[in-house]
Amino acid sequence: MAELTTTIGGFHFNNTIMNGAGVWCYDRKELSAVDTSAAATFVTKTATLAPRAGNPKPRMAATDLGSINSMGLPNKGLDYYLQVVEEFHQANPEKPYFLSTTGTSPDDFGKIFTKIAASNFSGLVELNLSCPNVVGKPQIAYDFAAVERILTQVTGIYHGPLGVKLPPYFDLVHFQQIADVLNQFPLTFVNTINSVGNGLVIQDETAAIAPKGGLGGIGGGYIKPMALANVRVLRQLLKPEINIIGTGGVEIGRDVFELILCGADMVGVATQLGKEGPKVFARLTEELTAIMDAKGYKRLSDFRGKLQVPEAREVAVH
Ligand code: SIN
Repeated sequence: MAELTTTIGGFHFNNTIMNGAGVWCYDRKELSAVDTSAAATFVTKTATLAPRAGNPKPRMAATDLGSINSMGLPNKGLDYYLQVVEEFHQANPEKPYFLSTTGTSPDDFGKIFTKIAASNFSGLVELNLSCPNVVGKPQIAYDFAAVERILTQVTGIYHGPLGVKLPPYFDLVHFQQIADVLNQFPLTFVNTINSVGNGLVIQDETAAIAPKGGLGGIGGGYIKPMALANVRVLRQLLKPEINIIGTGGVEIGRDVFELILCGADMVGVATQLGKEGPKVFARLTEELTAIMDAKGYKRLSDFRGKLQVPEAREVAVH
């Protein structure tokens, strides 16, 4: 039977599928449910320096094709997640965990990473530069100079394994610009993509969610083609030592397979985890394994990054 082990920056995982930050990761109870599922590991809710209530409700809606959310980074604060991840680590020292974090003002980043550096945290930090839902704040990773500034500051303070969570890019020039910035830093991984920001879902004659006049991040099946493209192009442009976590549009094992085919080292699941709960990891694992067995692939490296593109045939003008 095919095996799904993978590595991110030298950390070993016994599966390639995990949650995406935002879903089933708010508190100890939710993290424990993911930890004891078939998932490789978990990433926490994005932690800010102080706890946040997030945006007013209704702020999330599931649809047939995916989801819309404008959560606004509700979380229990950095101290809580550092403490909880340390507890999980002590109970299971062999298993690497991810801590997601971000700043809501430029001053925050130095404080956050000074705190993490001074803590016992020994896993991987995912710096979220892509939340579309904090009212009045832009998605940082669309501002390439800001990304460079923040990573210069953060990597000067924190020397542990670090990755960034990116928004989707849609323009090949932007792919090159973000890759040029990221390649300057000793990053362990990127996680691509966060939700597609500022979409609108209407139910009858009313927006599905309340914050930002109904605008929110779109996830689930709607966004799989963007996730595949972002994983594929960033894999081509980033330094090989930067691993990729592909997130976006995973509903079935075939979706996991395709993200790996585009170059993902691990795969994140968010909307479908919200719909199905942590048992989704066992189903996706089974479905991915069945695909690999049917194709004769023994391990992920047999097909990772090996997407084929049809040979282009010239077209004559008629
Ligand atoms: C949110 O809290 O608004 C969702 C998390 C994210 O998009 O980064």
